[in-house]
Amino acid sequence: SSIVVENATADPVHRHTDDLTVEPGGSEKLVTSSLEAARDELARGLGAMLDTDVPVVDEVSPGAVVVGTPDSSEVVRSEVPSRDLDRLGPEGYLIRSVRGHTVVAGNTEVAALYGTYGFLRLLQTSKPIERLNEVEAPKVQDRWIDNWDVERLYAGNADTDKGPNTGGLAGEDGSIFDFAATGESADKNLPVILDRYITVARALASVGINGFNINNVNAKNTYITPEYIEQEAALADALRPYGIKLALSIRYDAPTDQRFAPDTLTAEQLDPTKAPFRDWWTRRATMIKEAIPDFAGFTVKANSEGQPGPQDFGFDHGDGANGMAAAVEPLGMQIKWRTFVYNADVDEDRLKRAYLEFGPIDDEVQPDGSRGRIADNVFLQTKNGPLDFQAREPVNPMFGRMENTNQAIELQITQEYTGQSTMLAYLGPMWQEVFNADTGATDESGRLLPKRKVGHIIDGTAQGHERTSIVGVGNLGNADNLTGHHFSQSNLFAFGRMAWDWTLDSRKIADDWTRMTWSGDSRTVHEIVAMMMGSWESVVSYQTPLGIGHQFNADIHYEPGPEETLARPDWSPTYYNQADAVGLGYDRSASGSGFSAQYFPSLAERFDDIETTPENLLMWFHHVPWGHEMNSGRPFWDELVYRYQMGVQYVTWMRRTWDSLEPSLDARRFGEVRAKLAQHEADAEMWRDECVAYWQTFSGREMPTDDGPTS
Ligand code: GCU
Repeated sequence: SSIVVENATADPVHRHTDDLTVEPGGSEKLVTSSLEAARDELARGLGAMLDTDVPVVDEVSPGAVVVGTPDSSEVVRSEVPSRDLDRLGPEGYLIRSVRGHTVVAGNTEVAALYGTYGFLRLLQTSKPIERLNEVEAPKVQDRWIDNWDVERLYAGNADTDKGPNTGGLAGEDGSIFDFAATGESADKNLPVILDRYITVARALASVGINGFNINNVNAKNTYITPEYIEQEAALADALRPYGIKLALSIRYDAPTDQRFAPDTLTAEQLDPTKAPFRDWWTRRATMIKEAIPDFAGFTVKANSEGQPGPQDFGFDHGDGANGMAAAVEPLGMQIKWRTFVYNADVDEDRLKRAYLEFGPIDDEVQPDGSRGRIADNVFLQTKNGPLDFQAREPVNPMFGRMENTNQAIELQITQEYTGQSTMLAYLGPMWQEVFNADTGATDESGRLLPKRKVGHIIDGTAQGHERTSIVGVGNLGNADNLTGHHFSQSNLFAFGRMAWDWTLDSRKIADDWTRMTWSGDSRTVHEIVAMMMGSWESVVSYQTPLGIGHQFNADIHYEPGPEETLARPDWSPTYYNQADAVGLGYDRSASGSGFSAQYFPSLAERFDDIETTPENLLMWFHHVPWGHEMNSGRPFWDELVYRYQMGVQYVTWMRRTWDSLEPSLDARRFGEVRAKLAQHEADAEMWRDECVAYWQTFSGREMPTDDGPTS
């Protein structure tokens, strides 16, 4: 075989940093165009898979792989009808067998690069590659990673070096990118491009990620200083051939920061409806755009967990988001405005806050008669569930009930509440459950409407939105394997694949990932996929079964703390579990906090009745009596204890299964995962023992045995 990429460097993507250099001695290199990246990926990937050098040539011969766009490639122009290309949009691709060779084509160079990765994936997963006719286009436009620099990464060297449970707030030295004020340890800082930045870019592009917000939502103003913008420009230059655009998180009150003097505003001037505020942000965004012409925009965490926001100055979220949006709209940028807001002083049930804040703004009638106040270059960015990335939550009622506003879904790839970098938890099945959850929208006669799943809301088809977005909170750090746990890589992979196409099956994704990562041997693949597929549900079972919310001890979010009551009730496990002699769980039905009413009536009715609430969400909606009869026929108490036990047993089974695979896996990675699984099992047992013992002090019931129900 051979590789044909015509004009691979004819159209270099523009570089704005003159002195971009790669880390000396690294194995990655800078490329100047997406086609050059595609050519290099093929040479590297085919060479490794076929174990021989595959030549890059100019002429097509049998067995060749040709990559290009109608602009770059004579072969694409003559062999791919333009009507076939027209259907692909800007990022879609086709892979087609034509007279003994293979053509990978897209309308843009980045699309051709995506097709190249798609082709390599087919090969690496042992799919047939004769008579190919694959057509792929993403269902969602923005497929972003939010990288919280040093917070919640769980993938830094600090974390891996110091043992499993350190670094709950992530190792300070765990960040992927090495920013610093110019001058400090100048040999390492950007514009020196470290090897891992390119590795990350390749990994992200290989699954179609096209946006990267590089800093924490609890934002520091440093990231919008000239010293940092210069370094971000270097990074943007390095990532651009891979189709990745940069974005930044900002603080709403940044204009008052004295380090921007003399260009500062007073607190009174932070009125988002007026020119001083908007012009300040236009100036700052312009400064960024001059350095990074394709800069995507800002993400804002406002009036949330102590972050400043428009409410501090008498305005609402709609005013704030629109003020920022107006400031950057002329520059072609967007605002991602997060809806993670809560305030226990206003609503005792914190889950209600987001829809109460944003629902009325979404519904507001505008002067032209249309509904919804939020500007079109804004996405409201909403976590999948109404609380905060718990292992299982009901879907957020915002998806469905909000109809007139662009919405991005925010998923957490980094495993803050799902075992961090110690526990093996494959999150593909969770996201599949989220995307496939029906929002419960009905027609006037109460019949469920088709195609109203969360996925249809997010891809714009359910409500006719043209702008679409999925954001994942990233798990990339400076650990050698980039994610801390080898299996955490599968979550990044699955996120990218599902952001591209939310209808994909998480088992097929796991199968692909396993073949690409561990082995093509069918028994090995079968066992690893089996481990992965039940792993998330097992975390749910031994940490927070049957819909009980947040039971983690303070800050670290790794170990159990069911008995903890903190100064803030809404951060306290006891607030979520409401344990007493009657039972366990938070009543959010009509007889309790009434949160259930935020869903469409078809779902609200279901959640209001303890008998029709799905058991895996039971304690999100009900205070469940200890003796309540479950579907299994067992009393709730017994079922609860069984769930904890089943979760732990699954981990034991995974550990043994992994051990049995030793002969077919490479020794280093086998050993690293083995060590993690041993810790994982011990920690799962800790969760079971601590929680069950504590619940027993309320239930007063015996431990169930195999002999039958307790009373
Ligand atoms: C969680 C997480 C924080 C984060 C917050 C957010 O509470 O623990 O680290 O800042 O979510 O999403 O804003």
